[in-house]
Parts: sequence; C-alpha cells; structure tokens
Amino acid sequence: MSIICLGIEGTAHSFGAGVVSSDGHVLSNIWDMFSPEEGGIHPREASRHHSDIGPSVIRNAMEEASINNKDIDLVAFSRGPGLGPCLRTTATIARTLSLRLDVPLIGVNHCVAHIEIGCLESGFKDPVTVYVSGGNTQIIAYAGKRYRTFGETLDIAIGNMLDTFGREVGMRFPAGPQIEREASNATNYHQLPYSVKGMDLSYSGMLTAANRLVSEGVSLADACFSVQETAFGMLAEIAERAIAHTKKKELLLTGGVARNNRLTDILSGVAKRHNAAFHRVTPPLAGDQGAMIAWTGILQHEAGDRLSVADSSILPKWRTDEQDIVWRRS
Ligand code: ATP
Ligand code: FE2
Repeated sequence: MSIICLGIEGTAHSFGAGVVSSDGHVLSNIWDMFSPEEGGIHPREASRHHSDIGPSVIRNAMEEASINNKDIDLVAFSRGPGLGPCLRTTATIARTLSLRLDVPLIGVNHCVAHIEIGCLESGFKDPVTVYVSGGNTQIIAYAGKRYRTFGETLDIAIGNMLDTFGREVGMRFPAGPQIEREASNATNYHQLPYSVKGMDLSYSGMLTAANRLVSEGVSLADACFSVQETAFGMLAEIAERAIAHTKKKELLLTGGVARNNRLTDILSGVAKRHNAAFHRVTPPLAGDQGAMIAWTGILQHEAGDRLSVADSSILPKWRTDEQDIVWRRS
C-alpha cells in the first residue's frame, strides 16, 4: 500500500511544503520565498519568515493534496546543509508535527534531495548529475553507496555569482532569470576569465571581470550573454569529462539554475555527443521545494532509515557525500 509523506524544506530563503506518495506522485508542492527589499539574505530574518508563514504553507500543501492529518504517514525535513537559523526553525516545525501526528521523522540531505527528485522525474537509475543553485555547483556521480562529488566550485556557486553580478547592475534577487532574458538580446560575446582546474572550477575572477565590462560601457545584454556563455561553458567541460570518465549513460541537470534554457541546451548537447540520455528537472521541481524532501524521505524510510526526535539536530555543513545512499542496491 502506498504511504504519504509531508516534506518540509527550509534551508535558506525559501520555505516549502510538499506532499508525495510512495508510488511517486507529487500531490502538492507549495513554497514561499523570502525576498529582502535590498541586499542579501539575513539568516535570522529568513528564519522569522519561515516561522511566520510555515503553518499556512503546510496547510495549503495539505489542502491542495486533499489530505488530512490522519493521512500523513511520515514527516521529512531538510536537515542540512544550510543556514543555521533557517534549519532550526524548519526542524522545530517538523519535530512538532511528527510528535503531534505520531508518525516517523526523517532527516533529509538537501543536495541529495535535488538529485533524487530528478531521478524520480526522469526514471534515471545512475546519472552524472550537474547540481547548480545559489549555494552549490557540483558534478556528482554515485559510487560505493555515496553520491561522490567529482567536481565543484572552488569559490562561489554559480547562482550566487549570477545574483551578485545582477545586484551590481541593478537587478533584484534572484537575478538568474533576468540575466537569461537580457542575454537573449545580445549581439557580441566579450571574453571573460575561463577558470577550470582539473574537475573543479572557479567563478570569482569572471564575476569581477564581468562587473568591469559593464563599467567600461559594454551593453547589459552583451555582458549577461558573456557571463552565461563563459560560466556554462566551464560547467559543460567538467560535466563532459565526468561522463567520459565514469562512462555513465545518463546526464541530469538539477537545482535552481537548471531553470536556465541556455544551460539546458548546452548540457543536452554534451549528453548527445556521448550517447547519454539527458533530463533537466522541470522548473517547479528544480529549485528549493518540499516535494523533493518528501520523496527522498520516502526512499530513506523504505530502506529502514529512522531518526528519533532526540537525535534530530540540524547539520548546517552536511556534505552531499556524507549521506549513505541506503536505498540504492548496487
Ligand atoms: P541550494 O540551497 O541548493 O544552494 P538555493 O537556496 O540557491 O539552493 P534554488 O532555488 O535551488 O535555491 O536556486 C536559486 C538560484 O537559481 C538563484 O541563484 C537564482 O538566480 C537561480 N536561477 C533561477 N532561475 C534561473 C534562470 N532562469 N537562470 C539562471 N539562474 C536561475
Ligand atoms: Fe537547493
């Protein structure tokens, strides 16, 4: 019989709740993003946002899924990595629900959840994953019970780079979608530092140089285009090397930056050259949301993973490769 999991996500600026059944249906997925008027995210302000709107987001997710308290078999929450105050608020809500409803509590690694929701959607069994978001830029592949990081950024994440560049040129957070729109009006590419070191890459040098381009009078459209082409080109290079090296036959693109159509085109080209299947997680499941936490919670629960409330402390620095992937057989 199918079971139902309520998943709660609140590692950074968004708070989300999703309801997923163990036969793999996303019954609802609702989130609310804290968007400061100006500047970056203040962890305490974001956590206050989560405690203010958390109950209504959860209620809405349950209503949309047409379920009552008694239908919930499991509560899963994003245990890490993320901002301490946000994780604490989210964990407190999840523990309270688990105790009140008398159902098991599951702590989910946020990065692993971005991978698993992509596997659910695509049916992929063993992909090379390009995970790109505001806080992460990783090329990941499964080996020996863990999702191993084959390559990653040595400094800032790609989404952070896009948002910081956008802020410098007067865009609101998050800047990624606006940069993508601007880039479509470009006429010229302007060279920016391209920095790939082995399987790792670096974005801070190109960020400084991109800001300089704009101050030197290059059009915003050309600057946005040049930022995208350079940043995505670096990712494509290491993704291609990861596929060639691991000989895996699937390439998965996930995380908030996966919403970008140009990045999707470039990586699908990489997959094609290597006869690998390609999937980009669909936009509603690409960014931070509760459905991915609920689905990963179900996988962990079915594999026998258990977490007592007493042991459920948050893990702000939990790495992708520190979670045993107990639900995979090979
Ligand atoms: P994580 O905790 O996994 O690092 P996150 O908190 O950054 O995630 P996400 O929703 O996964 O949250 O990603 C948000 C990022 O995605 C922002 O940096 C935003 O600019 C970027 N983004 C969203 N849409 C696009 C787009 N169309 N093109 C490029 N970047 C985009
Ligand atoms: Fe995320």
